[in-house]
Formats: sequence, structure tokens, C-alpha cells
Amino acid sequence: MSEINLTENALHRRHGSNIGQPMTRREGVLKVTGAATYAADNHPSGMLYAVCVTSTIARGRVIGLDEAAARAHPRVVDIMTTGNRPDLAMDPDEKSNPFMFRMDLLQNDRVRYAGQPIAVVIAETLEAATEGAALLAPRYEVEPALTGLDGAESFVPQAVGVGGPSHAETGDVEEGMRAAHRRVEATYETPAQYHNAMEPHCVVAVWDGDRLSLDMPTQGMAMAQQRLAGLFGIAPENIAIRSPYLGGGFGSKGFPAGPQVLGIMAARLTGRPVKLVLRREQMFGPVGHRAATRQTLRIGIAGDGGLTAIANHTRTASSTFDDFFEPAADVAHTLYASPAIRTSYEAVRLDTGTPLFMRAPGEASGSIALESAIDEAAYAAAMDPLEFRLRNHADVEPMSGKPFSSKRLKDCYAQGAERFGWSGRPLEPRQMRDADGLLVGWGVGTATFPAVMFQANARAVIRRDGTARIETGAHDMGQGAWTSLAQIGADALGLHIDEVEFRSGTSDLPDAGIAGGSGHTATAGMALHMAGLNVLAKLAEIATADERSPLFGAGNVGTLARDGRLVRRDDESRGESFSAILERAGLAEIEASGQGAADGAAQEAYAMHAHGAVFAEVRVDPDLGQIRVSRLVGAFAAGRVINPKLVESQLFGGMIWGISFALHEHAVVDRRSGRIMNADLAEYHIPVNADVPALEAILVHEDDPHVNPLGIKGVGEIGVTGTGGAIANAVWHATGRRIRRFPIALSDLI
Ligand code: MOS
Repeated sequence: MSEINLTENALHRRHGSNIGQPMTRREGVLKVTGAATYAADNHPSGMLYAVCVTSTIARGRVIGLDEAAARAHPRVVDIMTTGNRPDLAMDPDEKSNPFMFRMDLLQNDRVRYAGQPIAVVIAETLEAATEGAALLAPRYEVEPALTGLDGAESFVPQAVGVGGPSHAETGDVEEGMRAAHRRVEATYETPAQYHNAMEPHCVVAVWDGDRLSLDMPTQGMAMAQQRLAGLFGIAPENIAIRSPYLGGGFGSKGFPAGPQVLGIMAARLTGRPVKLVLRREQMFGPVGHRAATRQTLRIGIAGDGGLTAIANHTRTASSTFDDFFEPAADVAHTLYASPAIRTSYEAVRLDTGTPLFMRAPGEASGSIALESAIDEAAYAAAMDPLEFRLRNHADVEPMSGKPFSSKRLKDCYAQGAERFGWSGRPLEPRQMRDADGLLVGWGVGTATFPAVMFQANARAVIRRDGTARIETGAHDMGQGAWTSLAQIGADALGLHIDEVEFRSGTSDLPDAGIAGGSGHTATAGMALHMAGLNVLAKLAEIATADERSPLFGAGNVGTLARDGRLVRRDDESRGESFSAILERAGLAEIEASGQGAADGAAQEAYAMHAHGAVFAEVRVDPDLGQIRVSRLVGAFAAGRVINPKLVESQLFGGMIWGISFALHEHAVVDRRSGRIMNADLAEYHIPVNADVPALEAILVHEDDPHVNPLGIKGVGEIGVTGTGGAIANAVWHATGRRIRRFPIALSDLI
């Protein structure tokens, strides 16, 4: 596919290291000119259009569909229902690992949430399929649905997030609270949020016997292959996935979503290629969301401002049929030093789609609550909130007692505060006004996100002309993976990025692992790095054993790659080009693979997290309650920066989602019908340009020798943490009103 071989980027023809350069994303021009092909841009010949019919009730049964009316539509080809859907090789409700999320694939007539697919109409045109779907006019047997955190019987989940404990404790929280001079005990509420990637979930599916070819956006091609292979009873290698670009994922494309599988089933049913694209409102249900939380925090403060206890008890929700529990409380394991820390959970089962990983799952909702509570604690202790955070800085990870692999949080506080102009902030709220009479407030929040590694593979090939090809099936959700990964691969080979062809985005390439957990650059990057080193080692083996080579006998001192040459480590003036070595050996090319994975021993020994500090200024209209974020400065220490331009852009994105968390996003559920009333981007508010001030992201230098060979921690999600709390704290500082239910609305302030 042409879009995968990226155009050269002449702007950045520069010698020396590629890592650390602010290169412009290599596929940027393709994207802004519309030349980049997203999944739903594909139109194989003979293709049909499939449209999901989704339930308008939250719980009950489908008792009738007017199939005759829909089939009478001249361009409707078929209707897929529980009665005629193709057989699957496994029950979509079967679950053999926590990442195997249950799906609604027309297995029966039950409705488990509003927006659940209950039929699929397949037609020659999108218009006909849409009209056919409307003609089905489902009838239901309706049962009362439960869609809010109240009123349901709670239970303690077995695990939260990806297997975290639902109860964890160090020290004695009750004793810490008793010993405290001051206490903060407050409950914070965060709403259900929906990922709303710009590109909806979609699939273009083509069957050829038992081979399946898919254009489908996914954050994890290999895991998608496995899941689909299980459902359809075919070998994973029989499934070819192309996912070169994603219009965002935010976690919702980590695993194949039910509607994508329905599109594949529709192709099997009709024997023709099928495209299925969700409409915006259909993304509020079957493709995951962030569950609401109610977090009760208890914080004890000693006379000297030191914490004596932190406890977070979180009530959250999952669906009636699957298990994902937002690990909101767990951020307290990491952030502040305290002799006693406890996190505990209870959950309820709601008639909603199953929650899923979404933009810093756990940390986002947890840190907005903890950062608010810490701010309340600072005020109770009559301390500046930044000074209070420094006073309670965690020198080792509080819950585990492990040293941090690196932690430049204090530098983040210092550099952010300096840039923002934090000094001189009055302790008391409601002290500052601007020239227009608006209330002005300043707030700070600490950002944190774990440095996560998955598993990835890559291949590096050096060709006789001295150029190279590097390959890994990575995913670009818009974060710039095409560029940062190519920078890493080129550096490993001692080549300039323009001399390296980077292939990615298809499932026939080595598995790059999942693009999630902010770990893609670290993991796929490490695989490319190792592949590069391994192929150079092969090349060196040939050269150093060849007496015609100037490197003959250099095996003991070792060799280095420099600008397309292998040179002696002890004398870089002696060496020869890659081409010369391959030429003499009679080889057209030489290749090696490499792996990226966590170093288990290092993980055992160290706590690994990225950190940051976010400073916010808000202006609040004292009469109308309108809130504007007027300044936002974040300083982040996240290990090695591969590409400062892309990293800044990632951090900006995260900070904007932080604005969204504090002030905009929430799904509004009609408690009578269980339906989401704002299932569209007109009323599901996210920040637009007018809501976003000039942002600043400071990249604090940090060397980490432990996280991975490249020292990368990841920046995809940390920006959303810290920011929400900083804004909430600034709103309090402007108004004197502590709002503990998010998003903060103007009606909260008047
Ligand atoms: Mo992310 S929620 O790990 O895609």
C-alpha cells in the first residue's frame, strides 16, 4: 500500500542524531491533503454497506422487527438478525482472559444497554441501509433499568483495571487519621465519559474462503487477529489487518469492538465485501466508556504539614455482563508520601455498555479527586498548595517502598512555577480580579503516569546500497509514531532518517504490540533499537572476520555505526561502509529482528513513573459563573524525549483533555429510559479552540537508566492527569467555592 511507504522529509536533512530532533511528522502532508487512507476510505469492488440497528431501551428483550418492511426496500440486500447470523466458533460471552471483552453479536434477543446492536441492515448504498434500519422499527419488552451509581447493591470487585487489587493498604489509616491535627474528608464525583475518537469505529471486511482481509482501525493488530481468529474459528495468520492510521482511539480501539465484528459477520452472510461505520450516537454504548466514580477521600495532616494518612474509597460501575472497573483510587499508591495509605473499591452493575480503558484509565478520574483533596488539605494546613506538595513529596514510592527509577518532579514543580509566575499567589481564595472584574484564580496539580512496557517485535534490514528498511506493525493514532519510531530505528543503525524506509501499520509485519498505556514508543521503539543493534552485530561479525576489511580483528574492541559506516570503537577513523561489507560478502541485504519488553528485574527493583506539574489560571464571571481557563503551564519529566515537537503535541492533547475533564465532558443519562441524552458532539461537550488558552509544556530533562535501553517513559496520557485538578483548584481559588462534582458547571458557581 502506497501510504505506508512514507515520503521523505527533506526539511530535516541533518547529520548526526535523529533522536531529540523536532522532526515534523512524516505522514503529516498526506493527512492534511486527504491522501492518507483511513479504514473507511477503502472501497473494494462489489462492496455493500452495513448499518447497525441499536436498541432504544436499556434492558429487556427484542420481541419484534418489521423485517418485511425493510426487505421490501429495493436496495436492501439482507438483514442480519439473531435468526440468520453466521455461526461463530465461540460464544461472544465466553471470556478466558481479562482482555477478552464480551460482545453483543446478535447471540440472543436480550438487550443489556441502550445503544446495543440488535440487527444489521445490509444494502447497496449507505442511504438504503440507513433507511432499511429505520424501517425495522423494533418492538421491545421493557424491563426497568439501572443506570446510575445509586440504588444498586454494591460488591467488591475481584480486581480493578488490569488486575490491580481492590483493597490495598500500607500503615494504619485509622491511626493516622486519629493522630492528625487537621483532616479532610470529602467525596468527589466524576461522570461517565465516552471516548469519542474523531474517527468512528468501522471496518471494511472482505472474505476469501477462510481468509479475511480487513481495513480496520485498531490500537493492537495482533490482539485483534487473535480475538477475531477465536470468534471465526480461523487461524490468526489468515487475517490480514491494515490499520496504518487511526483518527484517535483513546483506548476504545484497543480491542475489536462488537460492531466491527458485526461488519465482518455481515460480509460472511452476504458473501460480499462489507463496510460498516458507526454513526456518532452509536459510539455511546457498544465501544466502551469511562465509568462514573464516587471517591471518598480522607486525608490526615500533622501539625507540620506532613500527611498522616490518605484513604480513597471508590464506588464505580461496570456492566451487568462484564468486568472492567476504573482503578481510580490507585493513584494514591504513587503520588504523595504518607505513613498510611489505603485504597478500596466497591462497584455496582449497571445496564450500560461495559466500561473500558479510556485516556489515563484510573489516573484521570483518580488524580482530579486526589489533587482536589490535597489542595483542600493544603488550605486546612494554611500552606501554599505547591509548598504543601513539596512537603509531602514521595522520595520513594509510598505504597511499595521502592525507589523510583528516576523522578524529576521537584524540577517540574520549580520550572513550571517559575514559568507560570506562581510566587505571590495569595493563600486565601477570591483575592484576585482582572481589569474586567472577573475573578482570577491559580491552581496547581501533580501529574503522574506509570512507565509501561508491553511486548513488541521489529525487523531491521540493511541493503547493499547502504540504505535500510525497518519494520514493525505499529499504530499511529495521531501521536506521530511514524516519525518517532523511524527516528529511533535510524539512530540505532547510525543512519539519517531519510536513508531509512519505515514500514508499519499492517499485520504482516512483526507485531509491535498494543498502542496504549502510553507505552508504544518505549516498546516498539525498543524493538526497533534492538533490531538495529542486532543487524549491525551481524554485519560486524562478517567484517571483523574478513582480513580484507579494515575492521579485521576489531572483534575485541567492538564497532560502532556512524553515518552508514561501521567503525572501530577505539578509532572511529578506521572503518568501512555498510555497502562495502555487503558487497564483498556477496549479500544483497542482511537482516535481524529485535524485541522490546519490560526488564522484569528492573521492574521488580524500581517504581517507574513519569511525573509532571500543571499550573492553571482561570477567570470566572462573578455574576454568570462562566469559567475560562486563561493560562495553562505544564512541566513534565518523562524520560528521554525522542521528538520534542511530537512530545509537546502529545502533552498539549492531554492537557486539553484535562480541561475537558474539569469543565466539559459528561454523558447525561435519562434515568427513566437509560438512554444517553447527549449522544452527539453538539451536546457531549469537549473543548473547542475557544476553550483552550495558549498552552505551554516544558520538557524537563530526565535520564532514566532503568526503564528501558532508550530511557523512554511515555507521554500519551500523563497530560490529562494533574491538569483537571489544577483547574478545579484554580476555580476554588478564584471563587472560594470547592466543587467536588465534575465537570464543574457555571450553575455550580452562582
Ligand atoms: Mo490508552 S486508554 O492506554 O489507549
